[in-house]
Amino acid sequence: MFSSPIIAAPMAGGTTTAALALAADRAGAFPFAAAGYKTAEALAEHLAPLRAAGTDFGVNLFVPRREPLAAPDAAALLRYRDELAAAGYDGLPGGAGPTITNEQLTDFWDEKIQLLLADPVPVVSLTFGLAPESVVQALHRAGTRVVASVTSVAEAVAAAATGVDALVVQHGNAGGHSAAFLPAVSPGPGASPGPGGVVELVAAVRAAVVLPLVGAGGIGDAATAKAVLSAGAVAVQLGTALLRSEESGARALHKDALADPAFTATAVTRAFTGKAARALVNDFVSRHSAGAPEAYPEVHFLTAPLRAAAAAAGDREALNLWAGTSWRQAQDGPVADIIEGFLKGL
Ligand SMILES: Cc1cc2nc3c(=O)[nH]c(=O)nc-3n(C[C@H](O)[C@H](O)[C@H](O)COP(=O)(O)O)c2cc1C
Repeated sequence: MFSSPIIAAPMAGGTTTAALALAADRAGAFPFAAAGYKTAEALAEHLAPLRAAGTDFGVNLFVPRREPLAAPDAAALLRYRDELAAAGYDGLPGGAGPTITNEQLTDFWDEKIQLLLADPVPVVSLTFGLAPESVVQALHRAGTRVVASVTSVAEAVAAAATGVDALVVQHGNAGGHSAAFLPAVSPGPGASPGPGGVVELVAAVRAAVVLPLVGAGGIGDAATAKAVLSAGAVAVQLGTALLRSEESGARALHKDALADPAFTATAVTRAFTGKAARALVNDFVSRHSAGAPEAYPEVHFLTAPLRAAAAAAGDREALNLWAGTSWRQAQDGPVADIIEGFLKGL
């Protein structure tokens, strides 16, 4: 299914650069491009160097929410906007908002699917939800293998029923957004990772579905990667381990924070985007996790200008410093060296 037991995770928002994906490929890992937040045009541009290299690679898409926010969540969103306004952050939009456009809500899903059907890629992976079976079938007809992301046995069973070819099994120790799409298992603010780690989760999913599995979440060294493979995964997907690499597009503020002993913990928070995501605990996480509603991507667009202003001011305390629980093991240097370290230890 994958040409390597090591997969470079898709990291949207500028972290996965074409240079990172190409370097991962050259080092012997399977690379993912990140389509999240991009228009179809921007995605085509992002993919051009990977297509030119003629390599086996994947593209990751956010499966969008289609329905409007439920009334209680919409009310909570307005309260959250007032909470942020009262805190006096620079860059917060004024006016009656926060309203978002249909393109912002659907993350350009339709046009990106059209692009990937017209000009197919080897692999498409999905997160935040399941694609309709008709889309999975259309991608298959185009010659594309399709991968769903899950965070529990229940989600794995539901994903397998849509006809996908493999699953990314993401544990709550992972950096960035949770892939969870069933409300009952979505980790809430402050949630602990739960019993066990990615090894136990992969073993549980292995017992329930026959698809090839990719383990993800908190894999910071080759020994952990090896244990995940022994539990029945065909590969592991690394995110946080690549965040500080030379080719990573993460901001210098973010890379430096990951190496700074002043940060002592990560937490799952909805404060930045309205969806549970794991980040280093900074002032913003401490102050706003309790009040943040479940309203993705509305909260993402509400806080985006605030985060841009913080980045411009060099203020890491109001930035989303995504990090998995293995953040202290993340190395700087070329992607090739980091991948080589994992491959050698398997
Ligand atoms: C900065 C960052 C951005 C991410 N963006 C995406 C994304 O766009 N799509 C996705 O499926 N997963 C995304 N993830 C999650 C990774 O795919 C992967 O599940 C996770 O990084 C694995 O856990 P680890 O960070 O502990 O290695 C992101 C993770 C990070 C750290």
